Amino acid sequence: MDSNKRPDTMERITTLELANRFIDEQIAAIREQVGDKKVLLALSGGVDSSVVAALLIKAVGKQLVCVHVNHGLMRKGESEQVIEVFRNQMDANLIYVDATDRFLNLLAGVSEPEKKRKIIGGEFIKVFDEEASKLEGISFLAQGTIYPDILESDGVKAHHNVGGLPEGMQFELVEPVKLLFKDEVRVVGEALGLPKSMVYRQPFPGPGLGVRCLGAITRDRLHALREADAILREEFELNGLAGKVWQYFIAVPDLKSVGVKDGKRYEGWPAIIRAVNTTDAMTATIEEIPYALLHHITDRITHEVDGINRVVMDLTPKPIGTIEWE
Ligand code: XMP
Repeated sequence: MDSNKRPDTMERITTLELANRFIDEQIAAIREQVGDKKVLLALSGGVDSSVVAALLIKAVGKQLVCVHVNHGLMRKGESEQVIEVFRNQMDANLIYVDATDRFLNLLAGVSEPEKKRKIIGGEFIKVFDEEASKLEGISFLAQGTIYPDILESDGVKAHHNVGGLPEGMQFELVEPVKLLFKDEVRVVGEALGLPKSMVYRQPFPGPGLGVRCLGAITRDRLHALREADAILREEFELNGLAGKVWQYFIAVPDLKSVGVKDGKRYEGWPAIIRAVNTTDAMTATIEEIPYALLHHITDRITHEVDGINRVVMDLTPKPIGTIEWE
């Protein structure tokens, strides 16, 4: 039997009960596969790797070594949440690597989108590889592969994924959610007790804010983007849009305009709001956001975020615009 093919008889996991059954089965399977050996996992904090981590912690506890690489392009509070949930609450074996300086130094002055992606992807493998080679006795590599990744393995996600397997790493794979669809992974994540904000996290590109801090990334503009994005997310959550809009974020171009602040000339960047709905990310429509809320968000971002002096809204569907700007 092809272990990468979802059996026709496999029931869709939609309830807590079905999720718990799946979890019990997987715990047994993982224990059988892994025995008393060690497993390594790159834990990004995304839905899939978080669910795999939680499953493995249940199955083999400290035999799992999680490595979280903070490339400095995470959204506000994300790396902190990974540490809080996995190290503090689940008592996982978590190695946290703050590689912000390495990434930002390499990216300095690089404005071409494809080059930026390559640098981020390449450096990610390097940092992960370095951490892995410091560890002894690792036999397995766990991955948050899900069924659409297998179905589309030469499709969109392949070129999207940061990292992948470091070259020359010869580990046997542990992929406990590889036959699940995304909605099932979320149900399993909830059953495992992961926070809702993690389980229902919106899609976030591997290169992170790197593809939203348009052009050559600078620390001050990246900081402004992160703060503005946090305000947008907070307001969408407070106003009931978080569950309604598929993906929403801020992009900040490398461009300044003239404004006035406190009676003085104030040059700043514009924050571009992108809020789209889609089912498969191949096409996307623009979500209508109430004007009153847009005014409020504009007010907060322009007053609270240093360096931003305008807020604009991107009304372009996909096609013709892609969801991300880079
Ligand atoms: P585009 O911009 O191509 O994006 O319309 C479609 C969806 O893919 C996400 N995206 C990425 N996801 N790594 C990822 O894992 C990436 O490099 C990447 N680039 C774009 C994007 O956020 C949207 O949901």
